[in-house]
Amino acid sequence: MKILVTGGAGYIGSHMVLALAAAGHEPVIVDSLIKGHRQAVLAGTLCVGDVGDADFLRSVLAAHPVEAVVHFAGFIESGESMQEPARYLENNTAKSFTLLDVLTEAGAPPPVIFSSTAAVYGDATVSPIPETAQWLPKSPYALSKCLVEQALAGAAAARGMRHAVLRYFNAAGADPHGRLGEDHQPETHLIPIALQAAAGRRAGLTIHGADYPTPDGTCVRDYVHVSDLCAAHLLVLQQLLAGYGAGCDDRVFNVGTGHGWSVKQVIDAVCKVTGVDVPVTLGPRRMGDPAVLVADSTRLREVFGWSPAYSDIETMVAHAWAWEQRRPVLESGSGSGHSSAEG
Ligand SMILES: NC(=O)c1ccc[n+]([C@@H]2O[C@H](COP(=O)([O-])OP(=O)(O)OC[C@H]3O[C@@H](n4cnc5c(N)ncnc54)[C@H](O)[C@@H]3O)[C@@H](O)[C@H]2O)c1
Repeated sequence: MKILVTGGAGYIGSHMVLALAAAGHEPVIVDSLIKGHRQAVLAGTLCVGDVGDADFLRSVLAAHPVEAVVHFAGFIESGESMQEPARYLENNTAKSFTLLDVLTEAGAPPPVIFSSTAAVYGDATVSPIPETAQWLPKSPYALSKCLVEQALAGAAAARGMRHAVLRYFNAAGADPHGRLGEDHQPETHLIPIALQAAAGRRAGLTIHGADYPTPDGTCVRDYVHVSDLCAAHLLVLQQLLAGYGAGCDDRVFNVGTGHGWSVKQVIDAVCKVTGVDVPVTLGPRRMGDPAVLVADSTRLREVFGWSPAYSDIETMVAHAWAWEQRRPVLESGSGSGHSSAEG
């Protein structure tokens, strides 16, 4: 089946493209390459363009009638969104609305899986966090996701759009076969930064705050292997294609292992896996970082039978390290459809 994957040249999307192809689907990728990498698209048909360009989307859908949509495209940095709120609300929210409008123009819309985030919970007061916890978005990034979740709920009520919202906690790791990995520009995620320091590509890394109310004072996060994330999407997709998502079915699902690792524990895992004593400095807290974010993914497990295959942090780090050691030297030109050696 043809499945539209927006943002399929990015970190999670490119892994999903491979997972879809392995499951016998034909991925049709829409990516502007503003952050993604052409060389990360290892299967399917890449259509370079913007999800906010309605005419472009119509032409893609006319050429490739799709049975479902997995919508990853968006900007991903909470901190950056504090500096550029309008850019985030335009790219993540307004352009998602355009996508939903185009999908519903021609009658019965295909089902949609939307990439949301644990950031919608902000400083949750419960841990692990269930889907029923209140939205407390602390950044325009988190707000941009809440608004799309709301629009999807509206599209379900008004236009019968079946959908699932997956709220990811921290995606981590790399393709276990070493074909793909994480390559954000700039990189702000802990594991790739620590691995780049281990590889000598950075001088070291900073721990942002060691005075949180956690066992070792550093922030605790729930890391979920990117392959397990893709497996969750495949299970949800299969059920959506079979009719799930009508009526009172649950539509919002956390994706995390339910286990938290502190920043210090992750750095220890990096040192152990790489054999390098990564240089670390202690810095002040970053604005808006909650102390603990751990998922209650009971709903995903019970409704779709999902279970992570790689829930151990050292395995995630080992896969990411294998990628870090072999990935191509970066080149510029990821935008405007030119080839890039990134990813
Ligand atoms: N990485 C994580 O830990 C994490 C956690 C929670 C949620 N998410 C969500 O998952 C999704 C994917 O994250 P990622 O880490 O793969 O990010 P990424 O930056 O690697 O990938 C995003 C992709 O979307 C593309 N894109 C952005 N705006 C676009 C637009 N307007 N039109 C077309 N393409 C566009 C980029 O070029 C890029 O290839 C995002 O929506 C993000 O908010 C990620």
